[in-house]
Amino acid sequence: MAADDHAPSEHTDEAAPASGTAGTRPVPGIVKPLPAEWFVPRDTNAEMRWDALRDADSGTGIGRHVPVERFFVRNHTSTPLIDPDAWRLKLFGTGLSGAPTADRPVEFSLADLRALPAAGISALIECAGNARSYYRSQQHQFVPGTPWTLGGVGSASWRGVRLADVLREAGLTPDAVDVLPTGLDPSYVAGGTDYGPVRRPLPLAKALDDVLLAYEMNGEPLTPDHGAPARLVVPGWVGIASIKWVGTIEVADRPLYSPWNTDFYRMFGPDHPPGGGAPLTEQVPKSAFELAAGAVLAAGSTHRLHGRSWSGVAAVRRVEVSTDGGRTWRRAELRDEPSAHNWTRWTFDWRPERSGPYELRARTTDHRGTTQPDTALFNREGYLFGAVVAHPVTVV
Ligand code: MTE
Repeated sequence: MAADDHAPSEHTDEAAPASGTAGTRPVPGIVKPLPAEWFVPRDTNAEMRWDALRDADSGTGIGRHVPVERFFVRNHTSTPLIDPDAWRLKLFGTGLSGAPTADRPVEFSLADLRALPAAGISALIECAGNARSYYRSQQHQFVPGTPWTLGGVGSASWRGVRLADVLREAGLTPDAVDVLPTGLDPSYVAGGTDYGPVRRPLPLAKALDDVLLAYEMNGEPLTPDHGAPARLVVPGWVGIASIKWVGTIEVADRPLYSPWNTDFYRMFGPDHPPGGGAPLTEQVPKSAFELAAGAVLAAGSTHRLHGRSWSGVAAVRRVEVSTDGGRTWRRAELRDEPSAHNWTRWTFDWRPERSGPYELRARTTDHRGTTQPDTALFNREGYLFGAVVAHPVTVV
């Protein structure tokens, strides 16, 4: 079973404020409004609509970062409301000097974290199940779980403190190998099993490399749905690594396990090792048009198509677009300086002469030389769909 977003979970929470204003389509457990022009509600989650990256009135593009109010939300259960003044980050475990225990942890208040040297990064958060629905619609492979199209991803500027600094401040020892951040959201219950709070071990090497413990998103304090008062941002890795609402971090001198690196977020199926593949880490290349599926365009005029491409831990090298179902490809024009961990915006001018249905395609090649394939490798839970996506439009 995929913890990433399968059958509706049973909530055990008390927080979960119902929200939304007239004209919005709220998801239980998400605090911010979810206007239908920006989001598609999916069970406990809210998918960003790609056409929401162009302003409906002016047609102007949204910048490289997605505004917080338009950013997708992926919740296993529901958004907890946490008092930032009372909140403490608690660290314990055999990988810290003196091996503090869970009942006598090393503690940091938000003010303590803000007193440490601040660091910023520009990075995507992307769900491992993003684009899952195309296993079914393009490859006729049936996978359970939330049927995301391409909107389980967003880019933001994040500010906080390097996880490495927090770990060292807490007394990291050379024996430490794994860290286990745990969220303060309600326990995840599915299929009659209580899996406990959302938590996923992170190898120390990644934790010390570029992981941020963020308290700001796009220049403002984190909002409840995105992990307030503090969350991890693990650049280039599947979104589940970026634990929101971090309450505790265990630091251990031995490998750690939770359902999120054993049962969930691994690849199972005929093309994977018996017993499943390694816990998922890096994301795969993807491309998307800033256009609604089924958009209607006028024949005989030039349309500037906009889109974005990205690829886990590598920068985008080039983007190509096909307007004839993948027979011919032309280069798109890159509009950003490509950088690892973030997407690159691009444009492509297209003048369709003939009316009728078309399938647009975009594909990227990253700096490692990886190009999006025509088909994605099947896995039972439908993770990491990185194949080229056909985008239907109608020309009239
Ligand atoms: N952290 C906690 N505590 N609980 C969660 O449900 N979901 C994870 C991750 N961190 C989750 C979590 C997943 S699967 C993703 S893709 C990202 O948060 C989504 O972050 P966002 O909701 O800010 O977009």
